[in-house]
Amino acid sequence: MKKVLMINGSPHQFGCTYTALKEVSDKLNTHGIETDFLYLGKDAIHGCTACGSCYKTGSCVFDDKVNETLESLENYDGVVIGSPVYYAGPNGSLCAFLDRLFYASRGRFANKFAAAVTSCRRMGNTAALDRLNKYFSISKMHIVGSQYWNGVHGNTPEEVKQDLEGMQIMRTLGENMAWLIKSKEAAQHHGVPDPMYAEKRVGTNFIR
Ligand SMILES: Cc1cc2nc3c(=O)[nH]c(=O)nc-3n(C[C@H](O)[C@H](O)[C@H](O)COP(=O)(O)O)c2cc1C
Repeated sequence: MKKVLMINGSPHQFGCTYTALKEVSDKLNTHGIETDFLYLGKDAIHGCTACGSCYKTGSCVFDDKVNETLESLENYDGVVIGSPVYYAGPNGSLCAFLDRLFYASRGRFANKFAAAVTSCRRMGNTAALDRLNKYFSISKMHIVGSQYWNGVHGNTPEEVKQDLEGMQIMRTLGENMAWLIKSKEAAQHHGVPDPMYAEKRVGTNFIR
């Protein structure tokens, strides 16, 4: 069974961000793709302290939802990350979670499909999206597009549902992600494997 992890980075479990994520999720479900929701909650989430321990162990020294998520990653074909827009960026707690999750992931996101969605009252959603998409593009993930940038507008779930274009953008995103997940499966059946990345990674830190 194909499966997508939906990460809700809002402190509101069933708020605006959830409303957007749920629309993507419902569309994935209509295509027979399962979804799991991960709600990060309202408690403080530790930021990355750059200790480097995850380089050796593959897990984070702060043993919380980051490590639980790392262990579950192999079950997922794709990830959708949702965030409310805070001062034109993603929620700080979500960034703290994602910094540690991606830094410790050591290649475990490679070749999965990815999308970010944002909810804002008025402005700043594309800047927040840019930040979230950068986790994906540095991790050899395949970013899924929609018919417009992936944002909804509203301060309450009811307002978000009135953003008819935003909700349609979410459904189109789900449709595209489902198609790509199935296309990858079909490609594998026809002998087209995931990219192999045979080259050893070069890391020059801008020193010649
Ligand atoms: C600290 C804070 C900062 C915010 N900054 C912005 C902002 O820059 N732009 C905006 O349009 N809305 C901003 N908002 C409003 C939320 O992004 C918006 O209400 C969002 O839809 C809430 O989603 P949620 O119900 O999932 O938490 C901010 C809200 C908070 C609490």
